[in-house]
Amino acid sequence: MTALLHGAGAVVTVLDRMDAYPESGHETFGVARSGARLVVGDVRDADTMGRLLREADFVVHAAAYADVAACTRRPDIAFRANVEGTQVVLEQVARHPVRRLVMVSSASVYGDGVPSVEGPQVFHEDQPLHPVSVYANAKLWAEHQTRLMLGGSSGTEYAVVRYFSVYGEPQIPKPGSHSWMVPWLSLQARLGRPMRLNGGGNQVRDLIHVDDVAEATALALIEEQMAGQTVNVGTGRPTSVREVADLIAPYFPGARQITTPRPEGDPLGGYASTELSRELLRWQAGIEVREGVDRYVRWLLATPEAMPGWLADPAGEE
Ligand SMILES: NC(=O)c1ccc[n+]([C@@H]2O[C@H](COP(=O)([O-])OP(=O)(O)OC[C@H]3O[C@@H](n4cnc5c(N)ncnc54)[C@H](O)[C@@H]3O)[C@@H](O)[C@H]2O)c1
Repeated sequence: MTALLHGAGAVVTVLDRMDAYPESGHETFGVARSGARLVVGDVRDADTMGRLLREADFVVHAAAYADVAACTRRPDIAFRANVEGTQVVLEQVARHPVRRLVMVSSASVYGDGVPSVEGPQVFHEDQPLHPVSVYANAKLWAEHQTRLMLGGSSGTEYAVVRYFSVYGEPQIPKPGSHSWMVPWLSLQARLGRPMRLNGGGNQVRDLIHVDDVAEATALALIEEQMAGQTVNVGTGRPTSVREVADLIAPYFPGARQITTPRPEGDPLGGYASTELSRELLRWQAGIEVREGVDRYVRWLLATPEAMPGWLADPAGEE
């Protein structure tokens, strides 16, 4: 997204701790190459936040301890990054108003959706929310807190975007994660290991390419009708984990699939209602899963340095 905003003529500053991935991956991930100014720091540092906000017109709050499994293992870290961090951002925005803040939330706030519905279900922005993980609970809190602190006469407009399952190059999973099935399954197949389908791979996700997400987020900053609104950012189409494995397999002769247990807090999934995003953002996703998977796998094959050492190591085979 930083590259997209920079290309559109914006002066972009990224504030990030830069410790979510090994340093060796920073060049591959390319934050610095996107044309943005990078400030290495913590969103909980009120002085830094205040200093950056004084020169900002718009804010996208995306910093988070963003892995579902990691948040379950370390709810204390999740609380500090996702709750306390969000609180500092909101307090500083209240003190140094900007034109609009976009809060990056997640489809995880829907949890397993409506319990009485069997099979993949469509998630509407106004339905009851049932987060089933520490991560999702913090995201829901961040959404509400944004509405409470920036609604009314705060001087800063807000918009909330609920990303569905984001994928696309140069995404590389974190150790111990079970999110991000396109990279996970691709990397397993690349290493000649079986693709592990948790719970048989029947869960569905709405897989949204990162380039589509960037476009939707940029529009959430500027589309007038988005002020005070919450929208899904998804394709509106469900894809099962097994379908993704089937799309990846042809690139890796001999690729195999095995069934592994479904982890705790791994929702059965659903897909986005796209009515509101089409109406308010005037946007819809443009990249089909087949094309997005093709782009990812080709990038992976052309970028051997993207393979994380911890995963290539036989001990990383979890
Ligand atoms: N990837 C997805 O499928 C998905 C889906 C829904 C929502 N999201 C949300 O999108 C945003 C980006 O996530 P991502 O998937 O790119 O994960 P990511 O881990 O690549 O990005 C999160 C970034 O936040 C930074 N960060 C964490 N705590 C921080 C702090 N206290 N101060 C400053 N920086 C901090 C990390 O260093 C990391 O670079 C997150 O808010 C995440 O919850 C992602």
